[in-house]
Amino acid sequence: MPLPNSLLKKLEESFETTDKLAVKNERYYLTQNYTDQEKENLKRRIRNTHQRLSYLATRVPATYAVCEDVLGRLAQYDFEFSSLLDLGAGPGTASICAKYIFPELEKISLIDQDKDFKVFAESFLKVAHHTQPLYELHDISKISKFPPTDLVISSYFLNELSEKNAGSILHKAWLATKKALVIIEPGTPKAFKNLKKLRQELINYGAHILAPCPHENACPLGDDDWCHFSVRLERTPLHKYIKEATLSYEDEKFSYLIAVKGPYKPISLPRLIKKPRKRPGHVIVDLCTANGLQQETFSKKDKALYKDAQKLKWGDCLKSEK
Ligand SMILES: C[S@@+](CC[C@H](N)C(=O)[O-])C[C@H]1O[C@@H](n2cnc3c(N)ncnc32)[C@H](O)[C@@H]1O
Repeated sequence: MPLPNSLLKKLEESFETTDKLAVKNERYYLTQNYTDQEKENLKRRIRNTHQRLSYLATRVPATYAVCEDVLGRLAQYDFEFSSLLDLGAGPGTASICAKYIFPELEKISLIDQDKDFKVFAESFLKVAHHTQPLYELHDISKISKFPPTDLVISSYFLNELSEKNAGSILHKAWLATKKALVIIEPGTPKAFKNLKKLRQELINYGAHILAPCPHENACPLGDDDWCHFSVRLERTPLHKYIKEATLSYEDEKFSYLIAVKGPYKPISLPRLIKKPRKRPGHVIVDLCTANGLQQETFSKKDKALYKDAQKLKWGDCLKSEK
C-alpha cells in the first residue's frame, strides 16, 4: 500500500514553494550522510531543509511501506494498543501508519530532536487522523526514562546511534514497553549485525520474540548472511524526479524485530527468510525454525501442499508442517 492520498497531497504541497532542483542535488549528500563510513559519527544526518525535503520525497514512502508490512504482521495477533511511543519519529511515519493499523490508539507520543520534522509530523497526523499528538524535542540518548506505553516503535532510528547509546535506549524502551516493542532497520548486513545484538539483549531481559524469529535461541545465521525482507512500493513523479529514478517502483529491503512482554507466549511457526524459489513442478523455501535453518521442497506430487507453497511470499510463516 502506498502512502494514503491525503498524505501524498500534503507532502507534495511542502514542495510548492521550494526549488526542487536544490532538493534533488541535496539528495546526494543525504545518501552520503547515511552510507559514508567516515560520516558515521555525524550528530545529525539530515542537515538542512533541502535534505529534509529529500527525505520526505524519497525515504518516507519507503519507510512507511515497511512500517505497514511490519505492523501488519503484529496486527495478526490479538493485541489492543491504546498508547504509542514513537522514538526517532522524524516526520511521524511510524505513528501515522500505526494509527491506521491500530485505530484504537488514543495517546500518541513522538520524540525526536529535529524541530522541522516536528512541524511536518504534526501537520501530517492532523491531515491523516485529525489527531494532535504529543511531539517532544529531545536528544533521546539523554532521556533517563520513557513513560510506560503499550506499543513502542523505533523505526530507522537505533542504527543512527553509537552501539552504546543504542543499547542504553533499547533497555529504557523495553522497560517502558507494556505490550510490544517494534524495531525496524534498513535491510543491510551492517544494520542487521547491530539488530542481532539488540535481539540478544532483549532476550536476556526476558522478551519473547514474536517475529521474525520463531524462537528465542541464538540467531542461526552466520556472519556472512543477514535476515532481511523486502517490500515493493510505487514511486510518485516527485519521488522519481528527486531520486533521478526511471523505474516506476522500488524494492525496499528491511530488517525488523517484534518483541512482546509476557505472559504472552508466541506460537513458533517456521518463517521464509529468503525469496521462495518457484521452479517448474516444485517450490524451494529457506526457513528459520525453532530447530535452526532448514530448506524444504514442495513438489507437485503433493498437490495440496504444493498449492499452498505457490502462494508463499518472502517473510511469510509456514502454516502447515510437512
Ligand atoms: C532515518 S530518520 C527516521 C524517521 C522515522 N522514524 C521514519 O521511519 O521515517 C531518523 C530520525 O532519528 C532522529 N534522531 C537521530 N538521533 C537522535 C537523537 N539522539 N535524539 C533524537 N532524535 C534522533 C533524527 O532526527 C531523524 O528524524
